[in-house]
Amino acid sequence: MKKLYVKTYGCQMNVYDSARMAELMAPQGYEAVSSPSDADLVLLNTCHIREKAAEKLFSDLGRLMPHKARKAETGGGMIVAVTGCVAQAAGAEILKRVKGVDIVVGPQSYHRLPALVDGAARGERLVDTEFPPESKFDHLPKPGAQNVSAFLSVQEGCDKFCSFCVVPYTRGAEFSRPVSSVLDEARRLVDEGAREINLLGQNVNAYHGAAPSSGAWGHGAGPDSGEWSLGHLIRELAKIPNLLRLRYTTSHPKDMDADLIAAHGDTEKLMPFLHLPVQSGSDRVLKEMNRGHTADDYRHSIEQLRKARPDIAFSSDFIVGFPGETEADFAASLGLVRDIDFVQFYAFKYSPRPGTPAASRDDQVQEEIKNERLARLQDLLVTQQHRFNRSFVGRKVPVLFEKLGRHEGQLIGRSPWIQPVHAAASPELLGRVAMLSITGIERNSLAGFLVDHPGEHAA
Ligand code: 5AD
Ligand code: SF4
Repeated sequence: MKKLYVKTYGCQMNVYDSARMAELMAPQGYEAVSSPSDADLVLLNTCHIREKAAEKLFSDLGRLMPHKARKAETGGGMIVAVTGCVAQAAGAEILKRVKGVDIVVGPQSYHRLPALVDGAARGERLVDTEFPPESKFDHLPKPGAQNVSAFLSVQEGCDKFCSFCVVPYTRGAEFSRPVSSVLDEARRLVDEGAREINLLGQNVNAYHGAAPSSGAWGHGAGPDSGEWSLGHLIRELAKIPNLLRLRYTTSHPKDMDADLIAAHGDTEKLMPFLHLPVQSGSDRVLKEMNRGHTADDYRHSIEQLRKARPDIAFSSDFIVGFPGETEADFAASLGLVRDIDFVQFYAFKYSPRPGTPAASRDDQVQEEIKNERLARLQDLLVTQQHRFNRSFVGRKVPVLFEKLGRHEGQLIGRSPWIQPVHAAASPELLGRVAMLSITGIERNSLAGFLVDHPGEHAA
């Protein structure tokens, strides 16, 4: 067997893609290893969303090259491939900047990886950043043996062009997989042991997949012609026996339509937790970000979602220091955070990305101001998150057990609100939901004991 080392940076889409690429290379004789030092093939699946994420690639390449040189001295070879969004954005530049890189391949062309690796083995240096006419989803292997909680990519790309964001350039136009291929993949995941499915997409609630054809659909549930929305897809997925929980990420507030909101009320399996990035609470900034909604539109969607599913909790992404952001704009963001009360968050300092409209503005915010605003925003959000977690102590929550814990006799699972929970429990409970009584919090995870077995307190 040849050794394959994969490093994944950035978002869940990359995690999903990395797993597919590893599966694609397995029939070529590549077996995954956990260290790059003597790998035959190294895949660095990169992220371009902020400057720091992109720069990490080059520091990792710097550390990798001595290993490649050492292997070459002993007659061995190491093929180094840069994949993902930095590959898409920087292309041949990467080959110029780092001599030891053999392959640069963008997210839409992963199915061509075996051919590219063959070329590299012959000494070629190759770049493939096309948006090919065929869909990679038709050519990548179907996900194999699964975790209890599985990801399923249903949508890719983005047409929104927020003025700060590189995604529309690196991932290309919005594309939804056909419903039948999503349903097939979901059933297979559940057959192989998945009990929770997290639907993935850069803009997952913009999903509009081709409806199944009547032939393929058989009789009974009769197909709709045209396209299915995400709400429709979720209701259909919820019918899969043995699938216990559904989630989706990441959404855009503009695509939070009435049907999807209603699905939160009528689909028990859809978990009461939603990551809905708002970025800013200032209407002026939202407009300049090209987000296509106001702060009150966002508040209104949250209100509707809470009406549909009263126990729903929210998470969000925030950017501080967008060009031209004033203290009043920032205060509006703090105001929105106070109004909504979030339970989880990702807060970022604005990072100018080459080629995006906001990057060339001449009213960039000073670094110290960004730092100061980030700290204030994080303080508020951390307070909200802790308050939420503390409210669970003494409560009972249904937990889906996903894996063995660090300590003997311990399992780790998740609450409906995606908090990790650990408890003393038998491995037979893996893949099952059990009622736990919560006894305490540790950082952002909860500790509890099985309600049916009082006294079995978590270690
Ligand atoms: N600077 C800072 N944060 C950014 N994000 C996207 N682009 C940028 C940028 N240029 C953040 C947004 C998005 C998340 C995935 O990353 O908050 O929702
Ligand atoms: Fe980027 Fe905006 Fe598209 Fe999200 S919606 S991926 S932030 S352009």
